[in-house]
Amino acid sequence: MIFDLDTDRVKNRPGIKWQRHGPDVMAAWVADMDVEVPDFIIDAIKKRIDTGGLGYDFYDEPIPVIEAFVNRMLAKFNWEISGDDVIRQHDVVQSIQWAINVLTEPGSGIVLQTPAYPPFYKSIEDLGRVVISNPLRVSDEHGWHLDFDHLSEVAKRSNVRTLMLCHPHNPCGVVFSESDLRTIYSIAEENDLLVISDEIHSDLVYEPNKHIPAASISDIAKQRTVTVTAATKTFNIAGLRMSFMHTASDKHGPLLKAIPPRLFGGINGLGQIATVAGWEYGDAWIAELLSGLDGNRQMLSELIVEHLPGVVYHQPKATYLSWLDCNDLGLGDDPGSVFLERASVRLNSGLDFGESGSGFVRLNFATSPELLTSTLERMGKIL
Ligand SMILES: Cc1ncc(COP(=O)(O)O)c(C=O)c1O
Repeated sequence: MIFDLDTDRVKNRPGIKWQRHGPDVMAAWVADMDVEVPDFIIDAIKKRIDTGGLGYDFYDEPIPVIEAFVNRMLAKFNWEISGDDVIRQHDVVQSIQWAINVLTEPGSGIVLQTPAYPPFYKSIEDLGRVVISNPLRVSDEHGWHLDFDHLSEVAKRSNVRTLMLCHPHNPCGVVFSESDLRTIYSIAEENDLLVISDEIHSDLVYEPNKHIPAASISDIAKQRTVTVTAATKTFNIAGLRMSFMHTASDKHGPLLKAIPPRLFGGINGLGQIATVAGWEYGDAWIAELLSGLDGNRQMLSELIVEHLPGVVYHQPKATYLSWLDCNDLGLGDDPGSVFLERASVRLNSGLDFGESGSGFVRLNFATSPELLTSTLERMGKIL
């Protein structure tokens, strides 16, 4: 049902995804889903609007959305945290920038598992820090995975002070297992690294994989980690701007908590209401969503064989994003621009995700099977 979508409504929905190029271009780029926002969120927002409660929201304890976050982390991931260690933010990239700005030195190196979500590069570079790349590896057996040897090597560089995790990983859909996380934190401990873990996709993990919050695995991890996350990817409400930054680190926590809260700006009340409603009523909806996404994830393999032979696709273990190697198609280093121009399909250019993205595109498969099929048919026609 979730993916039983009204195509005209999807194509004409306000927002950057479909409006940037208009309804004649298939939009499989920015990380919004084509699904409807769940009723329990719409109802909660409508109820607040109907009651006229659009004045100032709670700004001192107890803050409902922080309580909801603490409860959610415990219920979903068995991760016990305190609301005192949570800072509300508008968005996840904002939190990343605050953590970099306050906890790292200008000119220092920050390790990214590349290819990486483009705003990670921009955040690091805009703040005068340096990106150090640890390219993910790929194999038929394991799909995309982390290169621990190379990570150990770059972590030893004298300017490297920080490791950024995208957990689960955008664009490759890697989910770090407990054993991966233990290795990551032994490297972090050995080299005295701060870990910034972006867990915004943590609800979108396919069985049998499991999301384990990075900070939850040990006391070392707790002391080294700043976690940034939100409910916005899960419920398709990125425009409501509400997210969280958490650290229980004795070293980093006081520095983040010392930032005058008004520098963050007051957080959108409707975003908070939507987040609370999502976590209160959303479990069955998330299960249905994941089952639909899983269907699309598998279907994409078949559509690629049928329409885009030569493209290499490893099914992601999480997220609704796929990272497609188009190098054998002969479309140059930016196949995304060719698909836009010649097939009227908008994807994300691999080049925006770093050097290793040459010849790749990122395709967002969170849409109806019908639209996914049309997208692949269009792409196949130009070959
Ligand atoms: C890994 C990751 N982090 C952050 C974001 C953006 O989050 P926000 O809009 O809250 O900054 C995205 C959006 O796609 C993402 O994939």
